[in-house]
Amino acid sequence: MSKKHKRDQWGSKVGFLLAAIGSAVGLGNLWRFPYVAAENGGGAFILPYLIAIITAGIPILILEYTMGKTYRGGAPVTWARINKKFEWIGWFQVMVAFVIGIYYFAIIVWVLSYVGFSFTEAWGADPTGFFVSYLGLTDSALHFGGIQTNLILPFLIIWAVVAFIMYKGISKGIETVCKICLPILLVLVAILVVRGITLPGAIDGLAYMFTPDWSALTKANVWVAAYGQIFYSLSIGFAIMLAYSSYLPKDTDVVNSAFITATANHGFEIFAGIGVFSIMGFMAYSQGVGVEEVAASGVGLAFMVFPTAISSLPALNGLIGVCFFGALLTAGITSMVSILQAVVSGMHDKFDMSHKKAVTVVLVPTFVLSILFITGAGLNILDIVDAFINNIGVAAGGLIEVILITRFFNPERLRKEANEFSNFSIGQWWTYSLRIVTTVLLGIMLFMNTKDFIENGYGGYAQMDVNVFGWGCIVLVIVLADFLTTLKGKEGYADLEKIADKEVN
Ligand code: ALA
Repeated sequence: MSKKHKRDQWGSKVGFLLAAIGSAVGLGNLWRFPYVAAENGGGAFILPYLIAIITAGIPILILEYTMGKTYRGGAPVTWARINKKFEWIGWFQVMVAFVIGIYYFAIIVWVLSYVGFSFTEAWGADPTGFFVSYLGLTDSALHFGGIQTNLILPFLIIWAVVAFIMYKGISKGIETVCKICLPILLVLVAILVVRGITLPGAIDGLAYMFTPDWSALTKANVWVAAYGQIFYSLSIGFAIMLAYSSYLPKDTDVVNSAFITATANHGFEIFAGIGVFSIMGFMAYSQGVGVEEVAASGVGLAFMVFPTAISSLPALNGLIGVCFFGALLTAGITSMVSILQAVVSGMHDKFDMSHKKAVTVVLVPTFVLSILFITGAGLNILDIVDAFINNIGVAAGGLIEVILITRFFNPERLRKEANEFSNFSIGQWWTYSLRIVTTVLLGIMLFMNTKDFIENGYGGYAQMDVNVFGWGCIVLVIVLADFLTTLKGKEGYADLEKIADKEVN
């Protein structure tokens, strides 16, 4: 007989919204969005991205909120309650979140160090060289080079903070921290924006970001990047929003909540983008080069280009550095806890364990594996894992999700469910967006990404590195998902009706 472990619940619907926005607004907005947009032509990216938000982002967010709220479990249990045969996809999505959590954590560790470095502009005249030696960066993903001792302290600090929030639970931990962090984040980014737009050359950066390029609509890779970014940015397709909405009362207006979350997330993304691109415009201006040259720096944008920009500001350099890295830190932590909660709720809801035990079961392996990222190979491993887990793992999780719901289940049932407590009813456009547009575009995206990785490897890394960390992590996700699906769960976990009211309230 299973013990009844009471499920936590959001303190209020506003608390839920803040936590969902806290999850969505993360490193993806401040660190990933600017470089993905820049790599795909700046303004050229914006239009496909907007279309991706409308045709995939918002419809999937409504779908996940409705599923979580109705079936009231973390991803695996929610899927199992829809159809026992679907449980596997829930574990697949959870395992994708688990992998993302491991390296997401490492980026926050670097960010914490950089908050400290900003005070004295410790990176000096050569931020790139500084970053490389700070990481003790080796020449390949399999050449570990030992644990970097200078990373141990920030590593332990971030772990302590994250573990503290996670043990506190949904309402006392995650909700409280989001209520504190989001206003701080907004102030920090507002300072960046004001400073950015008043710099010489800012206008060139903004023109680069906002001038639309209609011809981009014909470029497949821009669409693939836009759809990839939307999943990451809105925290959809990898179990997070399913888990978060499972702690909601049944009478929540999920349609409204999805629009608010998406608007806040993308509004913030654009707002922060104004600050980041203005500063890039300033850098291009002071170096006498084009904005595209400054922007084309990929994942190094935050840690190499930005420090250079900060040091060349006419005044308030340290303050702007603290604002930028402080914003990354606060945004990163509120997303990190959501990624972990996706895994914790998966464990808690299927197996007979309390919240605290589930947190321990998740934190211990995450902690151990994240040590890989404070070795000298950390950045190389991160680069490969991030590419594979997003371009294949998240895309596959999202694609299977929409196919199962629209072709093997009745999406109209969920639409009715979503509309029942909503002021604004969603029409059949929602079903068509998921069934046709999202399915086709995600399918193309997954196919193109997989083909590209098979034919070209990734990022110039040795094939062995790509096999171990790229393909290896996809295989690991599949194997773990299989394993967790076959484990025996607590009695009646797959049956919504068997859940006693006091357990779900
Ligand atoms: N949605 C989170 C981010 O943007 C994961 O970083």
